[in-house]
Amino acid sequence: MTPQARVVALTGAGISAASGIPTFRGKGGLYKNLHAQDLATPEAFARDPATVWEWYGWRRDLVRRARPNAAHRALRELSELVGRLDIITQNVDGLHEQTGLAGEGGIVRLHGSLWRMRCTRCGREVEDRSAGPYPPDLPHCSCGGLMRPAVVWFGEQLASEDLDEAGALTRHADVFLVVGTSAVVYPAAGFLGLASQQGAFVAEFNLEAAASGPEIGLRVTGPSEETLPALVDAVRKRRKV
Ligand SMILES: NC(=O)c1ccc[n+]([C@@H]2O[C@H](COP(=O)([O-])OP(=O)(O)OC[C@H]3O[C@@H](n4cnc5c(N)ncnc54)[C@H](O)[C@@H]3O)[C@@H](O)[C@H]2O)c1
Ligand SMILES: [Zn+2]
Repeated sequence: MTPQARVVALTGAGISAASGIPTFRGKGGLYKNLHAQDLATPEAFARDPATVWEWYGWRRDLVRRARPNAAHRALRELSELVGRLDIITQNVDGLHEQTGLAGEGGIVRLHGSLWRMRCTRCGREVEDRSAGPYPPDLPHCSCGGLMRPAVVWFGEQLASEDLDEAGALTRHADVFLVVGTSAVVYPAAGFLGLASQQGAFVAEFNLEAAASGPEIGLRVTGPSEETLPALVDAVRKRRKV
């Protein structure tokens, strides 16, 4: 890695697993026997907003107690060692924001935030860090409309400015790290193909081989809270020689 290297990390639920937040498709990813795909959809919310808000109340409780782990911290440290590091995250937990990044790098949150809600009637969006909300007291807007979590659900479009920003970062990456994501949810999953087409070296950090295809230049199998700190150590050692 040259000092000017531009590194982009695409992260998913796996990077927050060691912080106590279960991944969607892994063990503990079910809520009352329901899959995320049964809860995180506009149809599920239209049918049964109380159950969807109950699930979000449970997730907010988990995330409020969670702290960044060694993998989040390693990305911060890497951002101090390379020319520039940006993060494209599918996570809504805000843990990358807690460690922050050095230099000019930024964090693109593709799927929104657990701490924001949006009115289903007038579209007003507000930050809300309160406990819950728990049914039957569902949150309402001043216009009387029902509030929903301001996250991107299955079957919904990502915000075009976030997509554009993530695409631009991906096209300029020299090194593209794919961390803790099953890499199956598009369009996020398409970024690793784009990165490789544009000449980036793509490395996957996952418990198992998740992303497939010739674009993966290196696969580092293991928990990212161990493998990313090892990467940082290796970069540091190279700097010293
Ligand atoms: N809007 C919603 O509420 C909702 C719900 C479900 C999924 N989704 C979206 O789908 C996206 C894609 O899912 P995803 O890929 O983030 O999560 P995922 O649960 O599909 O995959 C998690 C990945 O992390 C890996 N992993 C687990 N523990 C790890 C560890 N300690 N170190 C390294 N890797 C580890 C697993 O092997 C797996 O490949 C989600 O991020 C999410 O935004 C959204
Ligand atoms: Zn409103």
